[in-house]
Amino acid sequence: MSQIKCIGILTSGGDAPGMNAAIRAVTRAAIYNGFEVKGIYRGYKGLITGEIAPFKTQNVSNIIQQGGTILKTARCQEFKTAEGRKIAYDTLVKEGIDALVVIGGDGTLTGARIFATEYNFPIVGLPGTIDNDLFGTDTTIGYDTALNTIMEAVDKIRDTATSHERLFFIEVMGRDAGFLALNGAIATGAEAAIIPEISTEVDQLEELIKNGFRKSKNSSIVLVAESPITGGAMHLAERVQKEYPQYDVRVTILGHIQRGGSPTAHDRILASRMGAAAIDALLEDQRNVMIGIRNNEIEYIPFNKAIKNDKPIDRELLNTLRKLSI
Ligand code: F6P
Repeated sequence: MSQIKCIGILTSGGDAPGMNAAIRAVTRAAIYNGFEVKGIYRGYKGLITGEIAPFKTQNVSNIIQQGGTILKTARCQEFKTAEGRKIAYDTLVKEGIDALVVIGGDGTLTGARIFATEYNFPIVGLPGTIDNDLFGTDTTIGYDTALNTIMEAVDKIRDTATSHERLFFIEVMGRDAGFLALNGAIATGAEAAIIPEISTEVDQLEELIKNGFRKSKNSSIVLVAESPITGGAMHLAERVQKEYPQYDVRVTILGHIQRGGSPTAHDRILASRMGAAAIDALLEDQRNVMIGIRNNEIEYIPFNKAIKNDKPIDRELLNTLRKLSI
């Protein structure tokens, strides 16, 4: 094994419930294996500004249940430049940090891949994003909690939709990926999910809604994934309302409520397993890999694969939604 003594840890990009559980797991598994740990604040920005502090086991006490990230997060433009990354490298040398564990989504892992290649620096990534859009892992830290938040919110909206016999378009997050919208629709018995991976025409949607009302359904809910491809819930609702003025249409954009809150047991356990696995990976001399989970087994996925490949939507889920929304 190469001479790693001190591991730096950071969270970057959008926060996700379970990031704190991951920080705790990385810190404790590292200390358990005799490493020093340093916490880097505000993502890659902390490597440029030098906001770094030693982390002991007590620094991560009582955080497993907290949403957000105690290390703060940012989307750092400077780290996208070669000059910014040079400053970051100098900071790492000065701080005596010889490996990094980064927790975040697509942008975070892209930054990690570039930096690791440029400076031959050992980095392990953890998939921390509510979007679940990283290839090579069945699920990401924060996704399950966000899905449960969506489910609770949509259940509440269903009460109003039913009482007023309305058609609701509810926009959920996903950054161009339909996982939250599709599984959110299945979990709430929604009538349809409009996702960027599958094109749906307004008249197809109308057919579905009309059938529902004909069969004496007295409300309809359509989950829409945010994306320029779907056009978002507002845009879709306007088109449907214009063409079919007989429907009483309303729109709800769930927004950042989806990113917060105490992580579910699933996300806490996932983050704990992945955090411990990140240290195992470094001990096994793994470099530039993301920790993934497939069929409940931990796997190491090269950054290139995780970032560059599109994660496909499961057709079986789409069919299930179609069959059950009649
Ligand atoms: O990647 C997580 C995510 O919540 C996406 O679903 C969404 O598109 C984006 O971040 C929103 O980012 P911000 O909080 O910077 O507006």
